Amino acid sequence: MLSSILLASWVFGMALASPLKRGLQAHESRAKPPGGYTLTGPAPSDTLLSLRLALVQNDAAGLVDTLYDVSIPSSTNYGGYLSKEEVEAFIAPTADSVSAVNAWLSDNGISSSTISPTGDWLLIQVPVSKADDLLDAQFSVFTHAATNKQTIRTLAYSIPTDLVGHLDLVHPTVSFPNPYGHPPVVYSPQVESTRSDYAASQCNISAITPACLQYLYSLPTTPATHGSALAVTGYVGQWPQRADLATFLGEYRADISPSTTYNLVSLNGGIDPQNGSAGIEANLDIQYTVGLATDVPVTFISVGGSSDDTDFTDELLDTALYMIGLGSPPQVMTTSYGVDEYLISEKLAYNLCGTYAQLGARGVSILFASGDGGVSGGHYPADGCTTFIPTFPSGCPYVTSVGGTINIPQTAVNFSGGGFSNYWARPSFQSVAVPAYLALYGSKPMDAGLYNASGRGIPDVAAYAVDFDVVLDGATEPVSGTSCASPTFATTIALANDALLAAGRPVLGWLNPWLYAEGWQGLTDITTGNNFACSDFTTGFEAAVGWDPVTGLGTPDYAALLRILGL
Ligand SMILES: *[C@@H]1O[C@H](CO)[C@@H](O)[C@H](O)[C@H]1NC(C)=O
Ligand SMILES: *[C@@H]1O[C@H](CO)[C@@H](O)[C@H](O)[C@H]1NC(C)=O
Ligand SMILES: *[C@@H]1O[C@H](CO)[C@@H](O)[C@H](O)[C@H]1NC(C)=O
Ligand SMILES: *[C@@H]1O[C@H](CO)[C@@H](O)[C@H](O)[C@H]1NC(C)=O
Repeated sequence: MLSSILLASWVFGMALASPLKRGLQAHESRAKPPGGYTLTGPAPSDTLLSLRLALVQNDAAGLVDTLYDVSIPSSTNYGGYLSKEEVEAFIAPTADSVSAVNAWLSDNGISSSTISPTGDWLLIQVPVSKADDLLDAQFSVFTHAATNKQTIRTLAYSIPTDLVGHLDLVHPTVSFPNPYGHPPVVYSPQVESTRSDYAASQCNISAITPACLQYLYSLPTTPATHGSALAVTGYVGQWPQRADLATFLGEYRADISPSTTYNLVSLNGGIDPQNGSAGIEANLDIQYTVGLATDVPVTFISVGGSSDDTDFTDELLDTALYMIGLGSPPQVMTTSYGVDEYLISEKLAYNLCGTYAQLGARGVSILFASGDGGVSGGHYPADGCTTFIPTFPSGCPYVTSVGGTINIPQTAVNFSGGGFSNYWARPSFQSVAVPAYLALYGSKPMDAGLYNASGRGIPDVAAYAVDFDVVLDGATEPVSGTSCASPTFATTIALANDALLAAGRPVLGWLNPWLYAEGWQGLTDITTGNNFACSDFTTGFEAAVGWDPVTGLGTPDYAALLRILGL
């Protein structure tokens, strides 16, 4: 007994003098660099890395159970959303986790700052040499063949054995940035629209306008004034031009004030210089939310940090943490950017997905464009094209993924992102819809082994996605992509939320359980068309009666949605 006490104090004494080299345990790894990256050399040992540390949340599973409980229409707690404090009680790391991680950092002479409301995310800065030592990593320079983009990452890292269960992940480590710079999912494919003779005069399908979408989806033009609000995210330096919005409203919404505009929130130095070099994506997203969701207050969240060494996932996290920190966040958030799922590590993907579960529990609907590469993720043939590639965050079950349509009557547009996640298994809300699709179409021989039919299917819904008129620098130009569809669907939900609030009812919150149980009856099922792959080995998936991995459950019919909601 005595000798073991002596031994213990001796070890403790050593720990004070110099960091105790703790037992390390492998935590995350990749067999090889993803899609088109190769290791081209060691990272300079003095390069400073900003590492984000996620602490294990005390009851993330409990939060998800509660999220389902308030989001399943048949639940007695349906619509009983949680307060900020109630969500934080699930998410905050335990005192044990906080002290274990802090002790490890201070033993190593590292100071940290807290970057999330509950302290589940910390930020540290360490040189490469120290990060290598601390995490038994090999931070190296990886270069992407087609774009020459260079990034410092490691193929594996470990954490101290005694931090397992306390430290969820360290980032950036094994998640890689999009080598193409995280472009928005705006796309100008050579798709030619056609329409039947009976299409109404409201629509010229070479130039989709708010009036056409109001006609197609029976969207109201009456002002929404009961407290519904909508957030639009902007990344990679994209910001909207207020003067272009005024021109757009003057041209297409003469019935509302041309001074109607958006509120700006800038995160991490996100810009809004109004100097005439606005982004087409941001202008699209703002013009088709402010211009369609009549009088719903729209907030544009301009997220900075798009320089080469930062990462899209950091921007997603910063956006979610901002929303989570609000007492009353906007009840709908739409994002027209995404990334191929395989670039992001599973742990990081799960953690980010958890931020959307937190927002869902607060009653926020999170919408993401499904992508413009059909079954081929970000449509980058240069990186090889051997399997179907699901997009992120669309694969996260707590977001609603929006695919695209074309023509009147509508059919699936062939660039509509769709397929099955490799990270999330089929969620319960898809337990009827997805097997029904697979039973009919799941056995196309040429697609065998190209996708993971046990995964969550995407998209959930769709909306028109071709040739939207967008004003940029005073001139009108056509824009296509699921980037058009997500703001359109988000607007529909924001308007429905306002009608619910007017009736004294809760907003729709996390949409998916409701959509698959009831909401589908307020959608127009799209049953024709397919999505393409980046090589000619397959035509992708077919649209079909019911849910399909091209257009989900279908496109909105606002009047029918209100009927389904009993309004
Ligand atoms: C997508 O559809 C358009 C017609 O709308 C066609 O011209 C184009 O070739 C198709 N793309 C692929 C990759 O199949
Ligand atoms: C439809 O829009 C296109 C593109 O803006 C335009 O060239 C064409 O004249 C329009 N057609 C009608 C009938 O307005
Ligand atoms: C507008 O401001 C941005 C950000 O400061 C800058 O990058 C861009 O060059 C400016 N454009 C013009 C036309 O001044
Ligand atoms: C397929 O998806 C499941 C989750 O549904 C996952 O556990 C599995 O690893 C995936 N397979 C591949 C090859 O990615």
